[in-house]
Amino acid sequence: MSEPLIRAQGLRYTYMADTPLAVEALKGVDLEVWPGEAIGLIGPAGAGKSTLVQHLNGLLRPRASGQLWIDGQDMGDPRVDARPLRRRIGLVFQRPEDQLFKTLVGDDIAFGPKQLGLPREEVRERVRWAMEMVGLDFRTFVDRPVVSLSGGERRRAAIAGTLALRPSTLILDEATSGLDPRGRRQLLDLLRRLHQEEGTTIILVTTHMEDLVGLAGRVVVLAGGQTVLEGSLREVYGQAELLRRHGLGVPQMAEVGEALAARGCRLSRVPLTVQEAEEEIAPRLGVSCGVV
Ligand SMILES: Nc1ncnc2c1ncn2[C@@H]1O[C@H](COP(=O)(O)OP(=O)(O)OP(=O)(O)O)[C@@H](O)[C@H]1O
Ligand SMILES: [Mg+2]
Repeated sequence: MSEPLIRAQGLRYTYMADTPLAVEALKGVDLEVWPGEAIGLIGPAGAGKSTLVQHLNGLLRPRASGQLWIDGQDMGDPRVDARPLRRRIGLVFQRPEDQLFKTLVGDDIAFGPKQLGLPREEVRERVRWAMEMVGLDFRTFVDRPVVSLSGGERRRAAIAGTLALRPSTLILDEATSGLDPRGRRQLLDLLRRLHQEEGTTIILVTTHMEDLVGLAGRVVVLAGGQTVLEGSLREVYGQAELLRRHGLGVPQMAEVGEALAARGCRLSRVPLTVQEAEEEIAPRLGVSCGVV
């Protein structure tokens, strides 16, 4: 592979810099994301996840120190225009209300494609497609006022607005929160499809570590404004102590594995799914897992 899509080195960011209220949110983040990858970004509240992802589509720019290159562009260079980048790298905000600003759902989702200068018909087609992708029925919701939507529907509308740009990279900041279990599964299936079938690069910020199973090839842990751990899901979820020290949990199945290991059962791997846990446990109970 040629160049990483995103490369951050020692990236720092301070809110309200040079004031008594200054908050150092990023304290030297190193990160590389390759085109076509799907990565998970986890970390406790206040770790700097949202601050970091807002840098990754050019909304925030490196100021004082550290470097950030996106698509070969030096984001610390004030002459670099971030607007074209935001069309290719779509960010779904943590809070849908930060993103939805039009009165009607359809107008909101159409906003991005209109800005791209697409013909009316194509704009409508994209709105229809994006709404269907996120499970919002077009006829029911297109003319609904945004304020009348439930929390989960708002979340879906915000995701649709970003999808309608058809970005080659999709960053989602805790996008599964507020969705019911079925909505969560549907969104994760959609991300998997976009990743596998269209080669979309995915960066998923989540506090639900299970969300990353079957989607992310790599997970990055951010704590206190720094990258503290990085690796495959199995590598990272196997570091239960370290994750707990940073105020994080461990996915339940990994915890099952940990409990078995504590009882002296040597596991062949950290289980990530119910099926993997079953495969570890059943032979010890002397029962067959059946055909898998
Ligand atoms: N607009 C802002 N002004 C001042 N401080 C901010 C602002 N946004 C975030 N911060 C501070 O920066 C730090 C990192 O915040 P950030 O929102 O990036 O964390 P996070 O990992 O996304 O947390 P969460 O899991 O709660 O969403 C926190 O200490 C937060 O209080
Ligand atoms: Mg956040």
